[in-house]
Amino acid sequence: MIYYPLNTLAGAGIKDILIVTGKGHAGSFLDLLGSGSEFGVKIMYEVQESACGIANALGLAKGFVGNDKMTVILGDNIFEDDISEDVKAFESQNLKAKVFLKEVQDPERFGVAEIKEDKIVSIEEKPKNPKSNLATVGLYMYDNDVFDIIETLTPSKRGEYEITDVNNEYLKRGQLTYSILKGSWTDAGTFESLFLANKLAREKYGK
Ligand code: G1P
Repeated sequence: MIYYPLNTLAGAGIKDILIVTGKGHAGSFLDLLGSGSEFGVKIMYEVQESACGIANALGLAKGFVGNDKMTVILGDNIFEDDISEDVKAFESQNLKAKVFLKEVQDPERFGVAEIKEDKIVSIEEKPKNPKSNLATVGLYMYDNDVFDIIETLTPSKRGEYEITDVNNEYLKRGQLTYSILKGSWTDAGTFESLFLANKLAREKYGK
């Protein structure tokens, strides 16, 4: 599964990649991907001691990122889109944060963005009554302020430091931009989406 998001990053010209994994899986990722040379990238690893959220995992990247901007991708997300142009634009323009949206059938499983007059006005994490069917997918671009924002977060009801809280802070500051994905996208969090992930992978990478 990790192969696909890795390919999305490598295909966008991102050469320095940090993989944050749980303790139990770190060895398997190292075995599978090694230094990254096989993929034309340099991979470093960081271990998240307990599964306490994506924002917490991203916080572990502070030393790795230094003063740069960054692209964050979730390990169970598969994208059909080529993100090269988005990465280039985010790096060269004076942008601070960007999320990517995709229409889904089951928005209550995701962070959900509400849009008014072409602007995001709210993002709710796994809402019972979603205000739209636009999911925030597991692809995010941030400037370096993200690490200060992460330090101010408190855990959500499910005990996680939520990436949606990070996005909402950028939104509050008037700094959150977005794009809507053109191609197919899925995570692999349910049997149904795992099936779709396999199908997408076969269509995009199968011989
Ligand atoms: C996470 C994020 C959610 C996002 C989703 C995309 O959900 O919290 O906002 O829409 O990834 O895959 P989780 O995988 O924790 O359920």
